[in-house]
Amino acid sequence: MAKINRVMKAKGGAPVKKNETIEATVIDITYQGMGVVKIDQYPVFVPDALPGELIQVGITKVLKSYAFGRLVKRLKASPDRVENKNKALITSGIAPLVNLKYSAQLLFKQNQVQQLFKKMNIDVTVAPTIGMENPTAYRNKAQVPVQEINGQLETGFYRRGSHKLVPTNHFYIQDPKIDEAVSIVRDVLRELKISAYDEDTKKGTIRHIMVRRGYYSHELMVVIITHTAKLLGSDIIIKKLREQLPELKSLIHNVNNKMTNVIMGEDNRVMWGEDHIHDQLLDLDFVIGPNSFYQVNPQTTSVLYQLAADKAQLKPQDVVVDAYSGIGTITLSIANRVKKVYGVEIVQQAVVDAQLNAKNNQISNVSFIAKDAPEQMAQWAAEGLKPDVVFVDPPRKGLTEDLIEAISNMDTKTFVYISCNPATLARDAAQIIAAGYHIDGDIQPLDQFPQTTHVETVAVFRKNH
Ligand SMILES: C[S@@+](CC[C@H](N)C(=O)[O-])C[C@H]1O[C@@H](n2cnc3c(N)ncnc32)[C@H](O)[C@@H]1O
Repeated sequence: MAKINRVMKAKGGAPVKKNETIEATVIDITYQGMGVVKIDQYPVFVPDALPGELIQVGITKVLKSYAFGRLVKRLKASPDRVENKNKALITSGIAPLVNLKYSAQLLFKQNQVQQLFKKMNIDVTVAPTIGMENPTAYRNKAQVPVQEINGQLETGFYRRGSHKLVPTNHFYIQDPKIDEAVSIVRDVLRELKISAYDEDTKKGTIRHIMVRRGYYSHELMVVIITHTAKLLGSDIIIKKLREQLPELKSLIHNVNNKMTNVIMGEDNRVMWGEDHIHDQLLDLDFVIGPNSFYQVNPQTTSVLYQLAADKAQLKPQDVVVDAYSGIGTITLSIANRVKKVYGVEIVQQAVVDAQLNAKNNQISNVSFIAKDAPEQMAQWAAEGLKPDVVFVDPPRKGLTEDLIEAISNMDTKTFVYISCNPATLARDAAQIIAAGYHIDGDIQPLDQFPQTTHVETVAVFRKNH
């Protein structure tokens, strides 16, 4: 048995060898939720291992500057450990933090954000993470892969870092009604002997099942995503799903024949019902289409939007831009506090939904444009638009230099950044500061994704005088 303090080096420079067992104390946890043990500064990453735990690790993969291992035996457990029997939740990446006490999850996220800002040499206080009261069963959307295993169509999740399907009926962090709907759709497809698409042979039909359920409305959307343009037996599918899913409002066949990891195609065919569902948020009604982004945790989203709006200190005469506006949720939720809001969003259908949402909620001081946000911001800057406040809520890759430059050129006083990736937020913050802004108050993390390593963060920047 090797000990943590040994100095012997195996061939190739790594101090460990594949298949050997070592004993060590976990010193940290990664952004992916893996425990870290170190041998002579050489890290070994181990799933289901928490800081402070003394563990035996079987080395599974050795690379030049790090290795992976699996837990053989836990000799001393962390006081922050909560046992969840369903270990697959950790190995799948569905809920990699499920073994960590919820209060410790919130602290982990606060520390993670703090570390990322520290790395960028930005001295700022990160407030304690705002959490949920009941941090399970919160997701309003599921995208479940479909594969054939031993001749039977199965739904489940991919084992972390692979496309190997592990069948399951319980996803723990999803609305249980969504789990139930996925199983019902799977059983109907099985009954009709419809095949699953096989990525290797490029044969077969069904790729994914997507289900969305309105948290307040209870309206259900089912999207059957196929590789083939044809979906045989659609009349029977419609009949059976209508019988078994009384909440069903929208049944869509989506065709995706691309060989990429993108789940949904562009081609949506309504099989039955509407091409959208409704849900409510902050007393507003929203139409949500199959390809539109909609925050996955409706309970924390209302807290997030209110927090961002309050931090912005909006005034009735303010002109505001909402960049990356999706179906207009932020735009419409702040419209009654200001003079005018401009939304920009790249997905055409989301903009159509946003316009409809404005109309349905009788909000007229907003306008939406379907365009690349950095491009449109540069255009607005060139046209002399001078928004008092800009909200940005970009995808995980964060902002571009062009967009930051455009905001600075518009002489915007307040810049509210809502981020789902603190690494790109911290990176962008350095650039925003270089463009003549400072961070106002604390950075606020919010637990939009309990049991996972993801965190939502709000930062407010103000122009220097
Ligand atoms: C994190 S979501 C936020 C949406 C909305 N603010 C909300 O809270 O529901 C990011 C949005 O940015 C859009 N998007 C991605 N790239 C874009 C780009 N280059 N220009 C404009 N919008 C983009 C996505 O389609 C998505 O709707």
